[in-house]
Amino acid sequence: MDFKLSEEQLMIRDAARDFAKAELLPGVIERDNKQEFPTEEVKKMGDLGFLGMMASPEYGGGGMDTLSYVLVMEELSKVDASCSVIVSVNNSLVCWGLDTYGSPEQKEKYLSKLTTGESIGAFCLSEPEAGSDATSQKTTAIDNGDHYILNGTKNWITNGGTADYYLVIAQTDKEKKHRGINAFIVEKGWEGFEVGPKEDKLGIRGSDTHSLIFNDVKVPKENRIGEDGFGFKFAMKTLAGGRIGIAAQALGIAAGAYELAKEYSKVRKAFGTEIMNHQAIAFKLADMHVQIEAARMLVYKAAMDKDNHENYDLSGAMAKLAASQAAMEVSVEAVQIHGGNGFVKEYHVERLMRDAKITQIYEGTSEIQKIVISRSILRD
Ligand code: CAA
Repeated sequence: MDFKLSEEQLMIRDAARDFAKAELLPGVIERDNKQEFPTEEVKKMGDLGFLGMMASPEYGGGGMDTLSYVLVMEELSKVDASCSVIVSVNNSLVCWGLDTYGSPEQKEKYLSKLTTGESIGAFCLSEPEAGSDATSQKTTAIDNGDHYILNGTKNWITNGGTADYYLVIAQTDKEKKHRGINAFIVEKGWEGFEVGPKEDKLGIRGSDTHSLIFNDVKVPKENRIGEDGFGFKFAMKTLAGGRIGIAAQALGIAAGAYELAKEYSKVRKAFGTEIMNHQAIAFKLADMHVQIEAARMLVYKAAMDKDNHENYDLSGAMAKLAASQAAMEVSVEAVQIHGGNGFVKEYHVERLMRDAKITQIYEGTSEIQKIVISRSILRD
């Protein structure tokens, strides 16, 4: 595997790195404290092309490869994982899903606004009783001639309050189980569609997470994505790519925490010397570095599998599992290296530690990744 990055990929990575330092870092603590959505920052990311990186240029997208997207995700996540999850959901789940499976009319009407950041998207699969067990959808969409009638509740929806367009997965024919599930594009403001209260979260507090309530919402037939019954496969295919984005987010959180801990170890003195000179600290940093590099290789490999049109279900799940574990473990160690300062907000590592946890939960828990991995390796 050749992980050498092209000139263009390096430029994109550096642009994201500079942007994160200049534009995300200054307000990140305040946004986290206040649970404030980064409206201005999202607009700037749209202007830079970060919100529709892989989508077709015909619809305003960047037409870039997955590896470039992963590099941007990593750099943004080092500084602000709340911003990067907005980028991830919009790119991997919403834009990619529409670009790959939407009709030309759907792409014209919706995708071209989502790629530029003029509009924001959300992906709505999880329900109060259907998180990991995604086939057990209780939300229903009943065929009613030229439209469907949508009823139900979705939970933990990223961009839930700020999105303009929502990709909603619902059961249209219970008898057919997962083959009777469909995906729909729903617009904010449609009659019967209500956004529930904002969740008060442990981490990624700048992103807005809501439940959504659908009460006899009329969804035109032309807003169904793909053939009748394609919804579950749509969700699985989309999530398989989404997991690469979240793996990159986790990698960025780990790398961000590690870089802060390394720098801190060079300036903080204890027992007459900088703490990096104590093996207790140096060995921690060595372990953190190895764990991050190992995760990075899995994340890049998954991105390259996708770019090379190879199956990426397995590599994406492996990348997410390893990178999210790295995010959690490395950020805990980064707090430890910072000692008392690690427990204080201004040093950033406590936030990265809180943000890390969600990467082991959303877009499939670590246990779900192990289901995907074990099924795949045992089938061979
Ligand atoms: N690509 C294409 N098709 C797939 C697929 C994939 N990656 N994975 C499964 N399928 C298909 C199967 O082929 C099968 O279809 P057929 O019967 O027609 O052949 C169908 O889907 C059902 O597959 P399974 O029998 O494997 O389904 P299962 O019930 O055992 O579940 C699972 C599999 C992997 C556990 C799945 O339910 C899953 O991924 N669950 C986790 C859901 C998840 O990630 N939720 C996160 C919510 S989104 C989110 O977090 C967004 C946000 O806001 C950040």
